[in-house]
Amino acid sequence: MRLKDAKKFGNFKFFLQNSCYTFVSVYQFMDSFEINKIIAAVLLTALIVIGIGKFTDILFHVEKPQVSAYKVDGLEVASSTDSTSATEKEIEVVDIKALLAKGDLAHGEKVFKKCSACHMIAAGGKNMIGPNLWGVIGRTAGSVDDYKYSKAMIAYAKEWSFEEMNSYLIKPQAYIKGTKMAFAGLRKEKDRASVILYMNSKGNNPKPLP
Ligand code: HEC
Repeated sequence: MRLKDAKKFGNFKFFLQNSCYTFVSVYQFMDSFEINKIIAAVLLTALIVIGIGKFTDILFHVEKPQVSAYKVDGLEVASSTDSTSATEKEIEVVDIKALLAKGDLAHGEKVFKKCSACHMIAAGGKNMIGPNLWGVIGRTAGSVDDYKYSKAMIAYAKEWSFEEMNSYLIKPQAYIKGTKMAFAGLRKEKDRASVILYMNSKGNNPKPLP
């Protein structure tokens, strides 16, 4: 061993010895038992945490269903602007002109008595159980400001054309699923035609008849 190397080695030994001393003194400072306990506690905690995780994974293993159980109707209606629904709509299309020809205003006023349990139809009229229907033909569904509609009606948001109104009044809860209008519907074409004509006459700008 050359002198230079021997010196280096000496330094190294010195360093090693010193750090050993510090370690030992720290170690001695704490009771060695105490340290063992701490280490054991830490290890055990880690084991338990990992173990519980794995165990519950096995215990509560849930197969994710392929089709979600809760279907939100409103959302589906909104997203189904595909070709199938378009063709369905086409089949439903009625000759609204011929239908309206079956009705008359005086009869419409009578039929509206069924509606007036829940609806006013007057300029500046109040909302009752249902919204005021003044000028409803041609207005957007769910658009009376101070009336609290169902989510379904707000989501629907189409214009109340003669056709839409006819389809709705056949069986409201089937046409707009989730509407809170608790009314069975008007089965007779003549009743629907008349009440639509009547409602159209009750507004600031009645729509021209088709
Ligand atoms: C039992 C009470 C009740 C009766 C009877 C009733 N409705 Fe309604 N109607 C409602 C309620 C409640 C709403 C609000 C629906 C919603 O928010 O889903 C409503 C909403 C409507 C709407 C939508 C209004 C808008 O601003 O978009 C129209 C149109 C309508 N009704 C027409 C009629 C007609 C026509 C009749 C009679 C043939 C009738 N209703 C009978 C309770 C009734």
